[in-house]
Amino acid sequence: MRVAIIGVGRIGGLHVGNLRAAGHRTVTVDRRSEADFRDVREVPDTLVAQIDAWVVSTPTRLHLHTLRQILTRASAARVLLEKPAVIPSELAALARTLAEYPDARVVVNNVYANSSAVHRLAGAVRRLSATDPIRRITIEFTKNRLSDVAAGRFVDTDYGEVGYEWFHMLAILQKLLDPEDYSAYLATPRPGITSVYVSYW
Ligand SMILES: NC(=O)c1ccc[n+]([C@@H]2O[C@H](COP(=O)([O-])OP(=O)(O)OC[C@H]3O[C@@H](n4cnc5c(N)ncnc54)[C@H](O)[C@@H]3O)[C@@H](O)[C@H]2O)c1
Repeated sequence: MRVAIIGVGRIGGLHVGNLRAAGHRTVTVDRRSEADFRDVREVPDTLVAQIDAWVVSTPTRLHLHTLRQILTRASAARVLLEKPAVIPSELAALARTLAEYPDARVVVNNVYANSSAVHRLAGAVRRLSATDPIRRITIEFTKNRLSDVAAGRFVDTDYGEVGYEWFHMLAILQKLLDPEDYSAYLATPRPGITSVYVSYW
């Protein structure tokens, strides 16, 4: 496949490395000079026609803008959108954009939902809970983000730091619980199951 990665920072760089290691060709777009192109608008039509999939890994506040740039060039694009999909105030605009391009397919990246480690943990929890029912679940994420924040990563005044980890914690919870229990949890006005600990050392 030929995959275009828009935003080749920490995560976009991982996508580029993983895709190349898996034998795929990449087209990189970043305002930094080492990328193939500095803007989606610069990618020639002939190359756009050869791109099988796109990855949006620009900063979150640019996701909708980047996605729209892609769909303007390729209305049936296959897009992996990094999470969080968009900032909260743009959720309605994202829905409108998706309705505007019905042939496009956009998937939000959800690494923990596809993690083999989480899958095995969930299997063990389910097995053990057959004889020892779940009474409480606590999910803790502890990460040192000092250097990230100093470099401008995860500085998000819309979601804040917790917004980034909460998505992953919910993905894990969804794997651990039965679908009915997970839906009930989401519908609970005062969630009582999950804790968020994001540490700054
Ligand atoms: N899936 C995950 O677990 C996971 C983990 C961390 C981050 N993310 C998400 O990935 C996204 C990127 O995060 P990051 O940590 O890699 O950020 P980063 O700051 O390291 O990289 C962003 C890149 O986008 C480039 N960029 C900025 N504006 C651009 C534009 N207009 N056009 C093209 N490129 C542009 C920057 O030059 C930079 O290289 C964020 O949405 C973040 O939430 C996902």
